[in-house]
Amino acid sequence: MERETCRLPEKRRRRRCIILGVVAGLLLIIVVAVVLGVSLRANTDTLKETFIARCKEFKGSDCEKIWGAFEQAYVGRDPCKVPTEAYDPFIAAADFKPACNRLMFWSKTKDVVHDFTEKKRDCFLTVEDTVLGSVLNGLTWCGKEGSTKTFTTDCPGWRDCENNTVRSFWNRVSAAFADAACGDVTAMLNGDIATPFNPNSIFASIEVKRFDSSRVKSLNVVLVTEKSAVTNCTNASLKDLQKELKPGIQYYCKEVTEAHIQECSSNPEIACGACW
Ligand code: APR
Repeated sequence: MERETCRLPEKRRRRRCIILGVVAGLLLIIVVAVVLGVSLRANTDTLKETFIARCKEFKGSDCEKIWGAFEQAYVGRDPCKVPTEAYDPFIAAADFKPACNRLMFWSKTKDVVHDFTEKKRDCFLTVEDTVLGSVLNGLTWCGKEGSTKTFTTDCPGWRDCENNTVRSFWNRVSAAFADAACGDVTAMLNGDIATPFNPNSIFASIEVKRFDSSRVKSLNVVLVTEKSAVTNCTNASLKDLQKELKPGIQYYCKEVTEAHIQECSSNPEIACGACW
């Protein structure tokens, strides 16, 4: 058809060809903008939908307000320049109340601890079982300077830069979780590694330091071991853990096999804490 048009008298032909070219160019720009817009919106929408759906499982939470407070921490910012304090409004909005005798901390025991708390939900709670951590568990997100969008791909990884969007979130949330600790506190540490209390871990560098001796009565370490256990309760790093605790907080440690923990969590008859 274009070839026909282009056989018209010289002046008209050139004008039509120019108009057709401009229209085709505009159409192309519109298609690209729509495709990009849809994919960017899909990112924000998917993360927000997941966040809100998970949040709604916690009765009494104002999930839209919590999302708004969360989003302001990183939207429009360089994803490597999000300080932990940027999430303070999220922590305030989530309003996690102190929980006595039920809080479960962990380090390098992710699978075993979550399998346990899922089955013994009435006994212990990890941060990932609360509104603070469950809404974003396993997800990645970030913002970009000059943009109001949320991105879920091409975000910096955990070790790419210190103040990345995701790492600062977990650091802040872990601090809030430790602040809520009260009464007898439990921590599942890994007895199959040489340093179960690693100074670089979130548990050592943030959580233990925040246990308040006026509220926390004791720390009960459950050292999870397999047959190949390389560590027991006399481990040097656990001595460092005791030194980190504020005076007045009692310390206990028990070696428990992973098989025993699994057996115990599958038995609903066994009371909280009687697994070790
Ligand atoms: N990449 C991504 N995430 C990481 C990385 C990493 N390289 N390192 C740590 N994390 C985050 C993940 O969310 C991971 O599941 O920290 C979590 C646990 O890391 P560990 O080294 O096993 O333990 P620790 O650093 O002590 O963190 C666990 O922090 O989240 C709180 O209350 C929680 O007590 C728990 C402690």
